[in-house]
Amino acid sequence: MSESTIEFREVNKTNWIECIQLELEDNQTGFVSSNLFSLAQSKFEPCRKPFAIYNMSAQMVGFIMFNDCPLDDGSYRISRLMIDKRYQGRGYGRLAVQEAINRLRQIPDCVEILLDFAPENDVAAKLWTSLGFVVFDQRQHNLVAKLVLL
Ligand SMILES: CC(C)(COP(=O)(O)OP(=O)(O)OC[C@H]1O[C@@H](n2cnc3c(N)ncnc32)[C@H](O)[C@@H]1OP(=O)(O)O)[C@@H](O)C(=O)NCCC(=O)NCCS
Repeated sequence: MSESTIEFREVNKTNWIECIQLELEDNQTGFVSSNLFSLAQSKFEPCRKPFAIYNMSAQMVGFIMFNDCPLDDGSYRISRLMIDKRYQGRGYGRLAVQEAINRLRQIPDCVEILLDFAPENDVAAKLWTSLGFVVFDQRQHNLVAKLVLL
């Protein structure tokens, strides 16, 4: 079943523990850094903005992080995306990426969005390509894809 919308909320004193307790299936844990790591990273790299993803029933269903000012190499990236295993397959991942793209589009010098994913991550590959991301490089083990913003 697909739901029509999601909401990004800041990760703060009241919800960070719930955020780090979100879980993936065992065979997915290698696809994305832990939310605990990502939250720590965002404290030391303040351009990176972490958000908890909520559904319309105000349940925290996932986590996303992207940057709202350029990283050291000038890039804008969706650096993390995970949907808790209880909530996968309901359209939340797609909605979250669409919301992130909309937000990044508002940034004048953001002309493309980068991300990377493991070649064996078929669900992510399908999601990214269906949203217009095109693989153009391989870095270490991961495929690197970009979406050019028109
Ligand atoms: C990738 C991920 C974020 C997708 O989130 P999601 O909410 O389950 O995805 P959605 O429900 O929005 O579905 C997105 C697409 O993937 C497909 N999909 C979702 N789960 C699937 C599954 N288990 N098997 C096959 N396809 C699947 C859906 O069919 C959908 O395609 P469609 O819209 O053409 O039907 C989620 O699976 C996840 O957290 N995976 C582990 C972490 C990860 O890989 N993060 C990305 C790192 S790059």
